[in-house]
Amino acid sequence: MKILVTGCAGFIGSHLTARLLKEGHEVIGVDNFDIYYSRSQKEKNLMPMLLHPKFKLEEDNLATMAFVKVLKGTEVVIHLAGQPGVRGSWGASFNRYLTNNIQVTQRLLEESKGNKLKRFIYASSSSVYGDVGIAEGGETQVLSEEMKVQPKSPYGVTKLAAEHLCQLYNVEYKMPTVCLRFFSVYGPGQRPDMAFHRFCQSILREAALSIYGDGKQVRDFTYVDDVVDVIHAAITADVAGQVVNVGGGSPCTLLEAVTLLEEISGTTCAKTFLDRQKGDVISTRADTTKLEKLFGFKPKVSLREGLSREWEWMKKFVQSEDDETAIKANVQPIIGVDHEAIAQVKADEKESKKVAKKAKSQAAKKEPSADASMASAQPNLVARHEASQQAQAELSAAPSESTESNG
Ligand SMILES: NC(=O)c1ccc[n+]([C@@H]2O[C@H](COP(=O)([O-])OP(=O)(O)OC[C@H]3O[C@@H](n4cnc5c(N)ncnc54)[C@H](O)[C@@H]3O)[C@@H](O)[C@H]2O)c1
Repeated sequence: MKILVTGCAGFIGSHLTARLLKEGHEVIGVDNFDIYYSRSQKEKNLMPMLLHPKFKLEEDNLATMAFVKVLKGTEVVIHLAGQPGVRGSWGASFNRYLTNNIQVTQRLLEESKGNKLKRFIYASSSSVYGDVGIAEGGETQVLSEEMKVQPKSPYGVTKLAAEHLCQLYNVEYKMPTVCLRFFSVYGPGQRPDMAFHRFCQSILREAALSIYGDGKQVRDFTYVDDVVDVIHAAITADVAGQVVNVGGGSPCTLLEAVTLLEEISGTTCAKTFLDRQKGDVISTRADTTKLEKLFGFKPKVSLREGLSREWEWMKKFVQSEDDETAIKANVQPIIGVDHEAIAQVKADEKESKKVAKKAKSQAAKKEPSADASMASAQPNLVARHEASQQAQAELSAAPSESTESNG
């Protein structure tokens, strides 16, 4: 199947893209490498897929791009691109949430409504519920899709608005949309603003863990491979028009998760408790009855197993960050590879633009082969990554004057 994945370079998008390619699908991935977090992390996410013959990357902004090139022949749209983050959604940055969560979803629905899609999958969020699961006495209830939703953050409002748009297009245009409400997704590649990523960073850098509020807030942590399994199943399951919770079945308090992480990492951490943040909800626990009924799905990865995998990934990630910092700070005078590498990347970029321009004008006449368009779209990223790999390899082989920044 030909599948469009938006946000393919992000945390969930890159795991999903890898899985779809493994299943033999053809994937067109769109991502604008939004500045919310580092481009370098997203490039690393995508790197294993870049040369896959069935993958094509379109680096573009969904808010402004022409969709024809990515929607032609596409059978399934999986819309993960968006502006995440509850805490940052207040104030002036709300504009980013409006654009990347609402307007982009409306554009994509509008542009693909005539395409006879087999499925349009939208990445919604448990944030649409707010604190509706808190009963009067303070007891917490599981959150079910039938409950009244009441977002507690501007982020949740935008995710809910986009959900409503998907349902409108389902009713009015018979688009086979399905909205999946993800609950606190974690695992290797997790976004740097998310709790487990920040906690692992702090442990590895021997800093105190910053915890918002008293740490007793409950989250239904969901391992990323389980989320990918559900998205994959949603392509063919009979779920048009549905809204479904995707919870991992491992609800616990943040402090319990920290204790587990301490066990996994063999560390006892100092903790700093910060003010509770506006928009943070008290408890999110998913009712997964509908998920089980529609998809026959039960989460496979326990919190201990998933957190161990994220911890192992984080150790390598932090090391690679340190290496990159060292390269930027020290490499040129020591090993003198950067000038060459930069010149090479610039030459490749120029060549890449030339090839892309040529391919574009050829495409106007006839459809180019998948391999040809792949080669024209992706050498830029590959060249950059290879240059940085080479620089890193040479750095570790070369005697360093500054042991400090090499960690
Ligand atoms: N991670 C979670 O726990 C979680 C929970 C609930 C819902 N979600 C939703 O799942 C989706 C993916 O989340 P994630 O954690 O992988 O986030 P992410 O930030 O890692 O991935 C989103 C990707 O979308 C891209 N993007 C943003 N705006 C774009 C635009 N205008 N044009 C093109 N690309 C754009 C970004 O560059 C990024 O790579 C988001 O929609 C998020 O709201 C995530």
